[in-house]
Amino acid sequence: MFLHGTSSINEQGHLTIGGCDVTNLAQEFGTPLYIVDEALVRQRAGEYVKAFQASGLKFQVAYASKAFSVMAMCVIAEQEGLSLDVVSDGELYTALQAGFPAERIHFHGNNKTPDEINMALDANIGCFVVDNFVELDLLNALAAAQGKKVNILLRITPGVEAHTHDYISTGQQDSKFGFDLGNGAAKQAIAKALTLSNLEVLGVHSHIGSQIFEVEGFRMAVDKVAGFAVDIRSELGLTFKVINLGGGFGIRYVEGDTPLPISEYVGAITNAIITNFKAADFPLPEIWVEPGRSMVGDAGTTLYTVGTNKNIPGVRKYIAVDGGMTDNPRPALYQSRYEALLANRANDPAEETVSVAGKCCESGDMLIWDLELPKAESGDLLAVFCTGAYNYAMASNYNRIRRPAVVFVKDGSADLAVKRESLHNIVENDVIPARLAKSALAK
Ligand code: LLP
Repeated sequence: MFLHGTSSINEQGHLTIGGCDVTNLAQEFGTPLYIVDEALVRQRAGEYVKAFQASGLKFQVAYASKAFSVMAMCVIAEQEGLSLDVVSDGELYTALQAGFPAERIHFHGNNKTPDEINMALDANIGCFVVDNFVELDLLNALAAAQGKKVNILLRITPGVEAHTHDYISTGQQDSKFGFDLGNGAAKQAIAKALTLSNLEVLGVHSHIGSQIFEVEGFRMAVDKVAGFAVDIRSELGLTFKVINLGGGFGIRYVEGDTPLPISEYVGAITNAIITNFKAADFPLPEIWVEPGRSMVGDAGTTLYTVGTNKNIPGVRKYIAVDGGMTDNPRPALYQSRYEALLANRANDPAEETVSVAGKCCESGDMLIWDLELPKAESGDLLAVFCTGAYNYAMASNYNRIRRPAVVFVKDGSADLAVKRESLHNIVENDVIPARLAKSALAK
């Protein structure tokens, strides 16, 4: 059985999460429903904090809110002592509306607009992660106009690219993000930033990929960044105070996935930092990381109701659920794999292999291929695991399907964190231009 966090099966054979029977959640909140195991999110946050505390280094764990940006999640991040990484005015607004302390917000992005930068300046956020030369000038000018000096990190592409199981040391140059270390752009960027009087350069940022199962790539990135820190100190006289190593720590979506415990990723990074910087006789920098997926991914479960099915003898049996690529586009986008079970008959033995389709009008709208299940009937509940990251965050209204509700469950209580969209929400931003209105047509 593939269960995470507080999930278990009760005497009635129903899946429970956070002490809540999901058949009751389906009745109360409807399906599809995103269910978040709050205790597991807090546990993951605590694992990061504890692992950094063990290193003795100064640190910030910035939750990458792109994975799942809703106000309730920002509140939990704040309560757990995390910082927050945002990438747009929408993510920034969500954080600020949730009361997240601005000084712990870091603003990322390769094309921040002047309006977004001004909004972040107005809020006095803690740090901008500057991505390119255009942004350096723009941020400096906008900060000057507000009479402010702002903290920045420069995003560098260290020449290490992770493909979950292996690393390429050169391929990264061709990236839309950041200043390249190999071709000198990173050094030029720092030299330029030092001439801009409204920017305070704290250090550099590097992110090598996502859903990574090994520590080797992080070690390689630390080696490169440490070498760069030494060069910059001797050539430009700047000592980095902060090194941000991004996110990318993997999670277990399916049986075969083999992520490491959070403490191992953090331990590898902090050890590599201490070794490299001590060897270079360099003051130990503060370390920041930006986990997204590993903070919320396995805490999320999506609950669907099974509707129709189609059996093609000798070929495949499809069962269709009341959601699909609108609430989870990852299988269609990345061929991502998920585990699932029949949540109202969780102890029933598997009887057949089915493929789980969504209800959108396209053949690519599949959630799981070849899943072993008891014979699912209309009205059964299907729980798909590990949907906490990049599901709600990437949900759409394709086919004008309404986005599901999100509930946070903990110790037997279930609380709404996002309401299910209404049909009114679907048309509320639509405008019929006057010249198309019936009265106009009648003329
Ligand atoms: N920091 C930076 C600069 C990033 O670009 C990302 C992810 C993170 C942190 C967080 O990475 P994580 O810990 O979540 O791996 N939509 C894709 C994932 C895109 C990740 C983009 N950047 C998916 O559904 O798999």
